[in-house]
Amino acid sequence: PCNVVVLISGSGSNLQALIDDLRAGDTPARIQAVISNRADAYGLERARAAGIPAEVLDHKAFDGREAFDAALIERIDGYRPDLVVLAGFMRILTPTFVRHYQGRLLNIHPSLLPRYKGLHTHQRALEAGDAEHGCSVHFVTEELDGGPLVVQAVIPVQADDTPESLAKRVHVQEHRIYPLAVRWFAARRLQLGERGAMLDGQPLPATGHL
Ligand code: GAR
Repeated sequence: PCNVVVLISGSGSNLQALIDDLRAGDTPARIQAVISNRADAYGLERARAAGIPAEVLDHKAFDGREAFDAALIERIDGYRPDLVVLAGFMRILTPTFVRHYQGRLLNIHPSLLPRYKGLHTHQRALEAGDAEHGCSVHFVTEELDGGPLVVQAVIPVQADDTPESLAKRVHVQEHRIYPLAVRWFAARRLQLGERGAMLDGQPLPATGHL
């Protein structure tokens, strides 16, 4: 089976969606551990409730990004992962880390990438007057939020939307597309090729909807 390690920093609702999906389906994947850089991340409780080892690696205990990422790699690799899933992990990762997990590191981002890399994506979509917003799963490369897209989901922006109401509806879609991407990867249908992400041996479009 596909050994998965999930990294979180917060609520862990995407982690929960993965736990529920793997429990319900016949995906050949197992979440071996959940690691948070914050001791107060609610996602740690979700992991424990599901019987998954939940660990904290506090970035503040390290002298710089390189030292933290080296320790994080050591922790993660103890679980021999085939896939590392970033699920609301709010740390920028070093090139060393990203290269180490090349082709087996996925992230979910709350915007229709390549729009709105970084933070405050819902507010920025509203300010821009966008008619559509959404979320993206992508392979992680050294370019922040810039790696090859795997799957996106689109929602219409409504006239009375606030950043909070948008975030809520985007979350519903995140919980749909992240388990899907993990299922594809676990079934060996999804790969990172030389020119981008590949599904069933076919290149995925640089931008695409689901
Ligand atoms: C999600 O909306 C995810 O897309 C976002 O953090 C949230 C985590 O929610 N990730 C990023 O902004 C990455 N830069 P969750 O903890 O409930 O899964």
